[in-house]
Amino acid sequence: MSPHTDEGQIARAPFRPLPFELKTQRLILRLWDRADASGYRELVGERGDPLPTMDEALADIDGARESAPGRGIHLLTLRRRDDPSMFLGYCGLVIGRASIEEPEIAYELLRSAHGNGYATEAAQVIVDAARATGRTRLWSTVRPWNPPSFRVLEKIGFSRDRVTTDDGGDIVWLTRSLDA
Ligand SMILES: CC(C)(COP(=O)(O)OP(=O)(O)OC[C@H]1O[C@@H](n2cnc3c(N)ncnc32)[C@H](O)[C@@H]1OP(=O)(O)O)[C@@H](O)C(=O)NCCC(=O)NCCS
Repeated sequence: MSPHTDEGQIARAPFRPLPFELKTQRLILRLWDRADASGYRELVGERGDPLPTMDEALADIDGARESAPGRGIHLLTLRRRDDPSMFLGYCGLVIGRASIEEPEIAYELLRSAHGNGYATEAAQVIVDAARATGRTRLWSTVRPWNPPSFRVLEKIGFSRDRVTTDDGGDIVWLTRSLDA
């Protein structure tokens, strides 16, 4: 996933925008900045996707910053509050395989940041912020070989809905109501 995702999609429903900055006990979530280009390239490299050049990474980040206000949902970078210079990854809402009304929650962290509960902590505040936009349901689509992602979703109240298939194999759909 690139920080500039769901290109061309426009928020049509009357939802409040997801904030551009959120805080948890240990983390700051905020909009992408050009200084995140190196961390973003590292994340793509760890994923095994073709490595973007620095210019391509900067263009992706510029695109994310420009498109976020119009769409109302976006990915936010993660940093520790006690060391905000260190990029850890991202978490946020995307249309993905779902919709602007009922978007997907998405997260990806650098390997060095795994296993500290950061994804769960970030995803929980995104769920709360999604509810505050006026939305009533979120989705996530996960490949069956990703137990850590299933565990994060379980911890923040998602449950399995169905399995579909594409060229990459099975996709497990999970969902969470945001009703009070
Ligand atoms: C999924 C991901 C974001 C999780 O990040 P994280 O910060 O390590 O997640 P957390 O520490 O909050 O929680 C991970 C949970 O999975 C568990 N877990 C880790 N590896 C596991 C495995 N192989 N089998 C079962 N559970 C596992 C952890 O023990 C933890 O659960 P616990 O708190 O009950 O002990 C991270 O692995 C990642 O970036 N993966 C690559 C990108 C990706 O897959 N994104 C999601 C696409 S759907």
